[in-house]
Amino acid sequence: MPDDVSSRPVPLAAHRPAAPLKGRAQVPGDKSISHRALMFGALAVGRTEITGLLEGEDVLATAAALRAMGAAVERKGVGRWVVDGVGIGGLGEPDDVLDLGNSGTSARLLLGILATHPFTAFVTGDASLRSRPMGRVIEPLSRFGAHFTGRDGGRLPLAVTGAASPVPLEYRLPVPSAQVKSAVLLAGLNTPGATSVIEPQPTRDHTERMLGHFGAKIAVEPADGGARRITVEGWPELTAAPVAVPGDPSSAAFPLVAALIVPGSEVTIAGVGLNPSRIGLLTSLREMGADIALLNERIEGGEPVADLRGCAGALKAADIPPERAPSMIDEYPVLATAAACARGTTVMRGLAELRVKESDRLAGIAEGLQRCGVKVIVEGDTLSVTGAGGPPQGGATIATRLDHRIAMAFLVLGLGAREPVTIDDSRPIATSFPDFVPLMRRLGAEFREAA
Ligand code: S3P
Repeated sequence: MPDDVSSRPVPLAAHRPAAPLKGRAQVPGDKSISHRALMFGALAVGRTEITGLLEGEDVLATAAALRAMGAAVERKGVGRWVVDGVGIGGLGEPDDVLDLGNSGTSARLLLGILATHPFTAFVTGDASLRSRPMGRVIEPLSRFGAHFTGRDGGRLPLAVTGAASPVPLEYRLPVPSAQVKSAVLLAGLNTPGATSVIEPQPTRDHTERMLGHFGAKIAVEPADGGARRITVEGWPELTAAPVAVPGDPSSAAFPLVAALIVPGSEVTIAGVGLNPSRIGLLTSLREMGADIALLNERIEGGEPVADLRGCAGALKAADIPPERAPSMIDEYPVLATAAACARGTTVMRGLAELRVKESDRLAGIAEGLQRCGVKVIVEGDTLSVTGAGGPPQGGATIATRLDHRIAMAFLVLGLGAREPVTIDDSRPIATSFPDFVPLMRRLGAEFREAA
């Protein structure tokens, strides 16, 4: 979100609706895939046609940055975009600072691309992005020969000078992060020889899939201890390819959980991407007894897709194991909402990465739920949420801290709580789900402007 001093916070209150939520909705395109479609389109030769692109602020920040470096990125209609690529290594020096707003994915993946383009670029973002760790990409990208000058802890704003003669590397991910994996693989594209990433725990694999789709030579093979080694050959002939972006499961999560916790509700969300590396929330909700059906399962644009139907019903607590975290890393705020309405103590383990998202989500979830009268314990990287098997108290105002998912998760909680839940600022929602409020209202959600 731009740091625009003239725009003011827009508080919003969610009230328990008088009637159940009903209907069918289509959530916007997947954020991860949208960023990558634009980036790969820019690095390919030819015209990439994209449908279903997420037109949220984060993805628009990626589009603007690529344009500033010489790729022709053009909107043709709702979700319909074309990119005329410049080819591997063909981007040029931007003549101003690249402002990536709230978007960690834009920052980390573009730094990967910039690391092997021999010019200097300056990168910044909003207060949230400027506080997030970039050392995790700076460290491996420096090994290609790139130079970074950043603030303490490698935080933005920073300057990157890409390597003129990059050297390939094999890199073992110290944290399970698809952004770090993707940054290294993208740097490897303009590097002679083979670049490998070893990931001990699987993370979302959209980069690998799209590399193959655009004609790169990419191999994914087992490595020691159950890890995966992903290897990309440098200087491939990346060729433009059409991309149909599926609905974002991380956005679908909000109307889905709302349907589960507002009594009598039945909601269908059409065309949701169900890549196996993204479905941890579905597994967890089903373990909690949620009534979720997958309808019309199909493959679209190389990704599994289905319509999700969620019906309200009693939820029970579950124990969510740490190894599931990468497949639902963005879904803990809304899972915690479901847990607050379930009977018993839901334990969510292995959440260290939540501390470095758009805000410290572990703290934000815990503090917000406590304010809503829910019993919460944080011990190390484990979060325990105790629900009474019915509506929590609510009746609080929640600090969203420039975090779209905290904002949406607490609005959903307000729909299921006894008293309204207010978020202090609804503007961050536009980073990933610009139509969230009207879409939810169409399903019957009661959101009111708050003072
Ligand atoms: C993303 C990876 C995840 C996720 C983010 C999008 C991506 O971040 O939280 O919203 O598109 O690669 P990490 O790689 O930091 O886990």
